[in-house]
Amino acid sequence: MSKVRFMLLIPILLLCWSCSSHSLLDRDSNQTLFNRIGGQPVLEKLVNNLVKNIGQDDVIFHFFADSNVTRFKDNLYIHLCSVADGPCHYGGDSMVDIHTGMNIREGDFNHLVELMITAMESSGIAYPLQNELLSRLVPLRNEIIKI
Ligand code: HEM
Repeated sequence: MSKVRFMLLIPILLLCWSCSSHSLLDRDSNQTLFNRIGGQPVLEKLVNNLVKNIGQDDVIFHFFADSNVTRFKDNLYIHLCSVADGPCHYGGDSMVDIHTGMNIREGDFNHLVELMITAMESSGIAYPLQNELLSRLVPLRNEIIKI
């Protein structure tokens, strides 16, 4: 190969490499949070682990003492799935309607977030994805702390 052709080949190869790596990156960042988390199996694991954590918790278990666990799990899954832009539509009661009158305080909310973080850890959700999901849930604070 002549020196000139070789010199031309280098920028072309670099261009191709950069195009393909960018399209791979773009494809990934275009995925929904639901898909990047691992979809239904991982989100179900998260809900199961969260419910297990709540069941063993002294601080907030009393809120859930009379709840229907199966319905709670099903609706929480659908809610989280739609928050994460997954293929679900949460058609249940609003966060305000559900939580008003439960006397949930700031500390209770923060405690649930801690249990959620532990549940995400044990479900194998990567740290940056945990932060993404939390950043979508934390704004619900004002709808849930309704004394
Ligand atoms: C971002 C935070 C939260 C989200 C996304 C959330 C979401 C939900 C959803 C979707 C339901 C409906 C489940 C059903 O139909 O049974 C629900 C119910 C419930 N939530 Fe929350 N919640 C949050 C925070 C909290 C906190 C902090 C507490 C208390 C410390 C709490 C206590 C409850 C209870 C006790 C129920 C069950 C009500 C029943 O049995 O009918 N939630 N929540």
